[in-house]
Amino acid sequence: RCRVVVLISGNGSNLQAIIDGCDDTLTADVVGVISNKPDAYGLVRAHHSEIDTSCVIAHSDETREQYDARLLEAINKYQPDLVVLAGFMRILSDGFVEQFTGKMLNIHPSLLPKYPGLHTHQRAIDAGDSEHGASVHFVTPELDSGPVVLQAKVPVYPGDDVATLSERVHEQEHAIYPMVVKWFSQQRLVMKDGKAYLDNELIGEQGYA
Ligand code: GAR
Repeated sequence: RCRVVVLISGNGSNLQAIIDGCDDTLTADVVGVISNKPDAYGLVRAHHSEIDTSCVIAHSDETREQYDARLLEAINKYQPDLVVLAGFMRILSDGFVEQFTGKMLNIHPSLLPKYPGLHTHQRAIDAGDSEHGASVHFVTPELDSGPVVLQAKVPVYPGDDVATLSERVHEQEHAIYPMVVKWFSQQRLVMKDGKAYLDNELIGEQGYA
């Protein structure tokens, strides 16, 4: 079975969906959860499922590289096959990301390449977009720019605010992230030369369709 480490900073609803998905499919196990925030609710979720947790809290006087070195050490203790970023709200240094080429996934709350970075729901509303969504992608050094594996779209309704729209997106995230973790754990999903393949077929720019 595929050993998965999940990195979180907050609520961990995607972590929960992945834990539940692993229970269903039995092809992967979440063997560790790491948070940069000691009060992240996702840590409580991990404890409920008897999953080991660690906190790697940033020191005010350390560089990004120093933090990432400590994070790397915490991850490697679990000997993972896959590292899953699930609402982990830190930018990772290139050197760190390169340790996990083809072995690290992220979920981002937009239809990438639209809206990398923060405040994606507000930006979609402000732009008057009629659709929005979430993307699961392999992580590469450039922020939110690795090859997309799977996207889910949701409509944007007149009168939506960040709360209503983000709730709709979250629901879709909980459907797509466990599916991608399952594909990876079944060795059906790989990244080669910066591109994502499912069952040896190149995945298009908008994700598997
Ligand atoms: C998710 O919506 C995820 O897409 C987003 O954080 C949320 C975490 O929710 N990630 C990012 O914004 C990454 N830049 P959760 O803690 O309930 O899974």
